[in-house]
Amino acid sequence: MIFRFILLCLVINFAICISQNPILIIVSYDAFKYDFFNTKDIPHMKSLRKLGSYSDYLINVFPTKTFPNHHSIATGLYPEVHGVIGNSYFDTSTNKEVHISYDMFHYDDSVVPIWRKNEDSGGNRHSGAMMWPGGCYPYQAKNITYCKDYDHQYDWFKRVDMVISWLKDPKQPANLVMVYFEEPDTDAHIYGITSNVVDGLIKKLDNISQYLEQQLEVNHLKEKVHVVHLSDHGMVDVKPTNFVNVTQHLTPNTYNYAGSSPLLEFHPKKGFENEVYQKLKNASIKDGRFTVYKKDEYPERWHYKKNRRSPPILVMANVGYGLDDLIHYVTEGAAKYNLKVTNQSTFGVHGYDYTEKEMHPFFMVRGPRIKINHKVSPFNTVDLFNLFCEILEIAPTKNNGTVANIANMFLARSNGKYSLTTILTITAGGIVIALILISCAAVLTLMMIKRQQSITTTAALNKRFPQTFHGSIEAQHLLEPEDA
Ligand SMILES: *[C@@H]1O[C@H](CO)[C@@H](O)[C@H](O)[C@H]1NC(C)=O
Ligand SMILES: *[C@@H]1O[C@H](CO)[C@@H](O)[C@H](O)[C@H]1NC(C)=O
Ligand SMILES: *[C@@H]1O[C@H](CO)[C@@H](O)[C@H](O)[C@H]1NC(C)=O
Ligand SMILES: *[C@@H]1O[C@H](CO)[C@@H](O)[C@H](O)[C@H]1NC(C)=O
Ligand SMILES: *[C@@H]1O[C@H](CO)[C@@H](O)[C@H](O)[C@H]1NC(C)=O
Ligand SMILES: *[C@@H]1O[C@H](CO)[C@@H](O)[C@H](O)[C@H]1NC(C)=O
Ligand SMILES: [Zn+2]
Repeated sequence: MIFRFILLCLVINFAICISQNPILIIVSYDAFKYDFFNTKDIPHMKSLRKLGSYSDYLINVFPTKTFPNHHSIATGLYPEVHGVIGNSYFDTSTNKEVHISYDMFHYDDSVVPIWRKNEDSGGNRHSGAMMWPGGCYPYQAKNITYCKDYDHQYDWFKRVDMVISWLKDPKQPANLVMVYFEEPDTDAHIYGITSNVVDGLIKKLDNISQYLEQQLEVNHLKEKVHVVHLSDHGMVDVKPTNFVNVTQHLTPNTYNYAGSSPLLEFHPKKGFENEVYQKLKNASIKDGRFTVYKKDEYPERWHYKKNRRSPPILVMANVGYGLDDLIHYVTEGAAKYNLKVTNQSTFGVHGYDYTEKEMHPFFMVRGPRIKINHKVSPFNTVDLFNLFCEILEIAPTKNNGTVANIANMFLARSNGKYSLTTILTITAGGIVIALILISCAAVLTLMMIKRQQSITTTAALNKRFPQTFHGSIEAQHLLEPEDA
């Protein structure tokens, strides 16, 4: 079995030249909430989880929005360090809201995502980014080998096929691929995370996770690759009756604001700093459905404050509530999707504090170096970078993760010339042979005891009841219940 595998690997590697470096695939399903493993129909993902190590959830970064979390996954850094502090941020020098762009991902040029780091580690390493947020921009003026820009229309099966083709490229085989699926996030924002539409998408994603495994198998990659499945954040449903109008408390033209529920950033115009803050603060105390923070009041543990992009004032809705942007969206934007909005409509929202359980994403990893059916304690999104570096066998750059949090997912490494699999096989074989020998000895001993007992008892019975029990067969029959 082992030899067949080694032989197959040699033949296949020569045939299609997959990377001789460790191979890692990271798949992100946007807004795939941790508790889908209990609440949704995802048979494939559930069985996949048993093939490796997993945690009940991840402790993600603030704000629990898509781009900050994807870049923390990719860098191991907090948003205040990598600078992607929201899905958008307000640039005070231009008075414009900055959306996904080269600038968003280049706050600090020394920040290097895992895909750049992998290629910089030499040894014919190649990275690919399948629609991963920020994956197609150059970092330190260098593009990675493969990248496909975000395209909502692009078929999911084709995404997987393209990833496989990168891994199998004869000249430049990828050994790290980041894969992004925008669902269930996109539709959950429109229809709600508890909607039937989203249930259907989750089934489809479950199926695509299976498709990836199948394709790895038919291409003889399954035993060689490590695969991480994860998400960036969870989601919670908000009804229109829980939309809170915050700007009504302010004097028009005294501020700019930007962002999306549950977070709005306010930038007071010169001279109105105190007024804007005080009015919002007073309103929040009276209203009770949102909180207002001045920059120096942002909790340290958010790791969101020490960045010139982070706003002077932040308004955060309570969990289950939304703000002005959602009021706009429902009145103007819903027409675009032909939605009939009622008080019972649900709209998915995320971005709240990472301490809210509803915001937690899931995590699992499998691969040759990973423990099987092994549950670990929930750990941090910023710890993932160290996990990736360990799998890729590259030295991590300085980051905000803790190696100890991910170390126990790995099987003990064997230093000798025998791989762990070989050692396990030999050990298991030895145990099986020993068990067979012990069983044989036990059976033989039992047979001898039984025979001796039978002779002795027959003799005794014959002695006591010579007329009835002269046949050893009848005597044996009487003994059976005792033996059974
Ligand atoms: C990176 O790729 C883009 C196209 O995706 C290209 O416009 C740009 O010139 C490339 N940059 C470098 C440094 O190769
Ligand atoms: C599930 O995936 C298989 C391929 O692995 C495909 O043939 C099938 O159509 C998919 N089913 C759904 C419901 O997407
Ligand atoms: C909030 O209330 C004010 C005052 O009533 C109104 O002018 C504004 O349009 C409202 N905002 C939204 C988003 O509906
Ligand atoms: C906020 O409330 C305090 C105390 O109730 C009051 O003194 C102050 O004038 C209010 N400020 C604004 C800007 O409304
Ligand atoms: C919807 O909710 C609003 C605010 O709570 C209320 O004024 C309105 O009557 C409700 N509409 C319906 C149709 O129930
Ligand atoms: C996070 O890591 C960066 C880079 O090493 C470091 O500058 C920063 O101080 C760290 N932040 C925290 C809170 O440890
Ligand atoms: Zn997201």
